[in-house]
Amino acid sequence: MPTPTAFFRGQYVPLEEAVVPVTTHAFNYGTAVFEGVRGNWNAEQGELYIFRLADHIARLRQNAKILRIAIAQSDAELVRVVTELAQRNGYREDVYVRPMAYKAQSVIGPRLHNVSDDVLFYLIPLGAYLDSAAGISCMVSSWRRVDDNMIPARAKVSGLYVNNSLAKTEAEQSGFNEAILLNADGHVSEGSGENIVMVRRGALITPPPQDNILEGITLETVCQLAAELGYPVQQRSIDRTELYIADELFMTGTAAHVTPVTSVDRVPVGDGAIGPITAAIQRHYFETITGRSGHREWLTPVYAQAAVRA
Ligand SMILES: Cc1ncc(COP(=O)(O)O)c(C=O)c1O
Repeated sequence: MPTPTAFFRGQYVPLEEAVVPVTTHAFNYGTAVFEGVRGNWNAEQGELYIFRLADHIARLRQNAKILRIAIAQSDAELVRVVTELAQRNGYREDVYVRPMAYKAQSVIGPRLHNVSDDVLFYLIPLGAYLDSAAGISCMVSSWRRVDDNMIPARAKVSGLYVNNSLAKTEAEQSGFNEAILLNADGHVSEGSGENIVMVRRGALITPPPQDNILEGITLETVCQLAAELGYPVQQRSIDRTELYIADELFMTGTAAHVTPVTSVDRVPVGDGAIGPITAAIQRHYFETITGRSGHREWLTPVYAQAAVRA
């Protein structure tokens, strides 16, 4: 089995050697942006497919711009780094890649300018994050989602995830699987690591970016797949009480895939079972990410590329 490997300070190193000093700006002030990318294992094909890698790299660069983080490498170089990292790690199971662009300098004082930057990548094996087979219970969090004028949710800033962590811990310690955060004006925003989609009268409804969501790549994928299956998709604000009367509800995310929500605040969603539209979308999504249906343009095969290079 190959050694777990990270890409750190421009080199592939053993994962345990990828460590930053305690004085690092990002560690002290949360000044980093990150991504989560999945590699999905297809056992019959003996292939690991990285999902929408170029889109994750593009989002990392966009978010680095918000935090005034300069990324020295081109997008194409970063795509190559992630692919090679996956090859070097050699896992034959589902994996999760963590790209990060961060304020790397050891310097005191919160600011974004005049602090030097770097990128790092690591990869871990990761199976199910939430129970996407059985569905999950959610609570509406007492914590409100941060506003774009406070810390922009779209930017996937490390420090912002304190907001998500407060909500997730409250939910789990109250006996739920996941939190749903409302924004400052009381509209549904998202989960602690997932976007949210409601099904009402046969249509998919999901909050717009202005409700302080991360503009999810899985969400965009699911909206496209849903349209292909013939379901209309609408982006508009969602009231809290609509969660209680939705026909179906599900969450989307790189880690969470498509996870049905079967209750909110102990109120069953629909009749409490996984709904037919959620099930159809979930099936189509899993076939797509594991290379069993169309949209090959979203997939980066890891081992086929290694064979081509060898
Ligand atoms: C807060 C939050 N919302 C939504 C998502 C889903 O985004 P994506 O589908 O791009 O992974 C994530 C996970 O990345 C997240 O952390």
